[in-house]
Amino acid sequence: MCGIIGYCGPRDVVPLLIAGLKRMEYRGYDSAGIAVNDGSLRIVKDAGKVSNLEQLVRDAAVKGHSGIGHTRWATHGAPNQVNAHPHTDESASIALAHNGIIENYSSLRQELIRSGHTFVSDTDTETIAHLIEELYEGDLPHAVQKALRLIRGTYGLAIVSRHHPGMVIAARMGSPMVIGHGHGENFVASDPAAFLSMTREATYLEDGEMAVLTPDKVEYRTLSDEPIDKKLEQITYDIAAIEKGGFAHFMLKEICEQPQTVADSMRGRLLIEEGAVKFGGMAQAKEILSEAKRVIFLGCGTSWHAGLVGEYLFEELAGIPVEVEYSSEFRYRSPILEPGTIVFAISQSGETADTLAAIREAKRHGAPVFGICNVVGSAIARETDAGVFLHAGPEIGVASTKAFTSQITVLFMLALQMGRSRRVGAGRGRELVQQLKDIPQKISRILASREKIETIAHRYRDSNNFLYLGRGLNFPVALEGALKLKEISYVHAEGYPAAEMKHGPIALIDRDMPVVFIATHDGTYEKVISNIEEVRARGGRVLAIATEGDTEIVKRVDEVVYVPETDALLTPLLTVVPLQLLAYYMAVHRGCDVDQPRNLAKSVTVE
Ligand code: AGP
Repeated sequence: MCGIIGYCGPRDVVPLLIAGLKRMEYRGYDSAGIAVNDGSLRIVKDAGKVSNLEQLVRDAAVKGHSGIGHTRWATHGAPNQVNAHPHTDESASIALAHNGIIENYSSLRQELIRSGHTFVSDTDTETIAHLIEELYEGDLPHAVQKALRLIRGTYGLAIVSRHHPGMVIAARMGSPMVIGHGHGENFVASDPAAFLSMTREATYLEDGEMAVLTPDKVEYRTLSDEPIDKKLEQITYDIAAIEKGGFAHFMLKEICEQPQTVADSMRGRLLIEEGAVKFGGMAQAKEILSEAKRVIFLGCGTSWHAGLVGEYLFEELAGIPVEVEYSSEFRYRSPILEPGTIVFAISQSGETADTLAAIREAKRHGAPVFGICNVVGSAIARETDAGVFLHAGPEIGVASTKAFTSQITVLFMLALQMGRSRRVGAGRGRELVQQLKDIPQKISRILASREKIETIAHRYRDSNNFLYLGRGLNFPVALEGALKLKEISYVHAEGYPAAEMKHGPIALIDRDMPVVFIATHDGTYEKVISNIEEVRARGGRVLAIATEGDTEIVKRVDEVVYVPETDALLTPLLTVVPLQLLAYYMAVHRGCDVDQPRNLAKSVTVE
């Protein structure tokens, strides 16, 4: 979602802020701005891309050594120049950039208006600037603390004041903020990617904490002004991981990385001889897992789809009843979490507000909650009792791809681990571990048919509606394929269990509604073939994902993409790859902005 960068030190702050904002463009935004503070505040902001802001800043010849920058994803108020951040107070002495939502902004704003403040924007954020001004008595950190104690909602904040040149204040409540420590310079950002090229030494703010940055030091305090001792951490990921590395888009790079990322997710966790799995992060939860009677998966979007695949895997391998819940719905139900129920929260970013809220709800009911996350140090990783990291490396493309295959890899391993103490014997365990180990090279084989998939995408680029059908474990893959297409090519796509087609969606079938079938060789193959015939009989066009060697299917469909054979339980790891590529190439051929699709944000930190 929104991105924040702040800096104080000897460098020319403007190119640094622009570069930091560019690093965070992938998160999704609709306007951008900076405030430079060298004893006077210079603010430049506008709707549109960072490249547009860069030009405006150049034209305005802004220079300085401390400041803040922001990319905004609109929540309150249209994406225009006035609503763009940074926002200022009445006297334009304070400028701030904010991620999150202030829930009580309306009543605060009314009070401030009564005290004589005039507001110019429609945002909740502007209220914070006026409130700090109202409470300011010469000490900026104290005014910020007092203001934040009156605020309800979520925030990641970076604040500067012309009365305090060289000082940047950061604060966090529910929206990530990381402080980068340099030599004679310090950084703050909502995403470490923004300053990674300048320092790797960092601390993550916890909720209710603030940091006061000056070039020579960073002081950490609570909102009640108690000092906090924070340990410096090393950000270890490679800078190449957040660059395109010769690919046209991050999404394509991440699709193509999957042989590596899936291997990374299983690295050091497979016990080949025993046909079993071990997870360092779950060691202390061994007993809870072996006594579990029911599992609940929480997630949103792609992570929810991974949960659906997990449902089949856990039921099949561990014989445990599973429920998969949208995090956003779970919280507002009256969930029944009797003893023996364990919860897994699945999230790439580890910052999704809906999933965080659902975790808190599950914990309130006393359930053990485990995380399946990609981002180390994320809120979900920290708030769960234990968990498993995906180790897929930073995912920059807004459309989640490599995280999905890593989530399934981890879920498969968890199901196998729980299954081995219940109903899976050592022989079957060994077989499955071996099949899993072979997956990366099988994904590479699918990637080799990229060109063919591009040709198909080109052929179908003008279709505005698609149906995706699959059965069993491949039903969630159908949902995921449809979501990918919607997200980046803005093509309407629906996913259904193949057998459900005749209960309604069949009414839509005609030449203008291509149907993508996942028709791999498994227990439901014959039935899926019958569904294909039903589409053909109604003049529909069929694209099939089939198992290598299935030469029969060619006669019944318009297009076929093959995936290698594997154990039926592992097919989602293969069948999703051509669907990711199909969505990618459709978007490219429709001229869409693949890495920054309209209206979307990489991590959705508002509920
Ligand atoms: C997937 O392509 C999405 N952009 C989106 O659905 C995403 O999976 C969802 O917002 C959940 O994010 P998380 O995994 O970071 O929690």
